[in-house]
Amino acid sequence: MSDVMQNTRFSKLTLDNRFALAPMTRTSAEADGTPNQLMADHYEAYAKGGFGLVITEGTYTDDQASQGYANQPGLINDAHVQGWKTIVDRVHAAGSKIVVQLMHAGAQFQASHHTDEPQGPSAVKPKGEPLGFYGDQTEWKLPKAMTEADIETAIQGFVESAKNAQAAGFDGIELHGANGYLLNQFLSTHFNRRADNYGGDLANRLRIIVDTIKGVRAAVGDDFALGIRLSQVTVTDPDYQFPEGEAGFRQIVEAVRDAGADFIHTTDGDVERTPFVDGEKSLADVVAEIDGIDLIINGGIDETNHPDRAANYPGSLLAIGKKALANPDFVQRLKDGKEIEDLDFAMLQPKATISNELAWRRKQAA
Ligand SMILES: Cc1cc2nc3c(=O)[nH]c(=O)nc-3n(C[C@H](O)[C@H](O)[C@H](O)COP(=O)(O)O)c2cc1C
Repeated sequence: MSDVMQNTRFSKLTLDNRFALAPMTRTSAEADGTPNQLMADHYEAYAKGGFGLVITEGTYTDDQASQGYANQPGLINDAHVQGWKTIVDRVHAAGSKIVVQLMHAGAQFQASHHTDEPQGPSAVKPKGEPLGFYGDQTEWKLPKAMTEADIETAIQGFVESAKNAQAAGFDGIELHGANGYLLNQFLSTHFNRRADNYGGDLANRLRIIVDTIKGVRAAVGDDFALGIRLSQVTVTDPDYQFPEGEAGFRQIVEAVRDAGADFIHTTDGDVERTPFVDGEKSLADVVAEIDGIDLIINGGIDETNHPDRAANYPGSLLAIGKKALANPDFVQRLKDGKEIEDLDFAMLQPKATISNELAWRRKQAA
């Protein structure tokens, strides 16, 4: 059996293999954010399909401005905890571990059960257009620039929902610091035009991330897996680059590690892309060079290139997105030498819901 199929220790977890399901939003919870049976069946399928680790979709963290999409799941009250607990139990029974991705949408806001007023680091809209497959909006709303009290509320939301994650039985949490959502917006000089302690130089732009990790770590204790997903690119701006380049990213990785994170999950169009304004390394290369922090790699990993990727980043987990959507049993298929399908985006139309996926699968089977 290849190394990638061997069981492994990763950030306090023992996993059956090095494959992780990448976080993927499906906007299929109840209107009040409660996870349901449809989601339990959905996540169980990936566990049964052989993924050592399941990472959930981005899940909102407070009843203020964290929710970004209609029917996005939350983790802020007892009903949410109970809904997630059913999912966690089903995934565990199938032999996988499960980590919840905690997400504050910030300026990338399309709809919420709780508010009509988005918040962001500054009153700056995202580039491009809202994502049609998560809702109907045609234009971004202008977010309110967060006050220091709003920032404190957002941090507390992450802390409380991390405690809720423990109550639901999750094996850990991943903070969403990638793809242009709130924590990523603070790092970005497009979104963050602040002149206070949370804006300006990189140390200031990192402050909310550092404070969130410290707050969560203090709340969940040392034995709970805690990581953060990081990217430069956003969902509507595939070309964004941190102005501080490779050295800046190194500073981010070290700050995240020193604040108490166990792992960093890098995401880019391709794991091996060299995205910095300077230098020749990928995001994953930089993390891999730094001691004391584990790595999850993501971006374009498939049935052909995974042995190379696994060998290039020893000990890392390999997170699979689109190929997993197309093949919930991706890992089992690899083991059995079966064919791997490509994702047909029709599966996610007109919206990326699980019901639409099931309807598409019924049509394919007919
Ligand atoms: C339908 C869909 C929903 C996604 N939702 C999320 C999300 O909630 N959180 C996140 O960090 N990334 C999200 N992503 C990005 C994926 O996790 C992954 O980074 C991306 O698909 C690239 O990996 P791949 O080349 O293996 O597909 C989503 C991607 C897709 C296709």
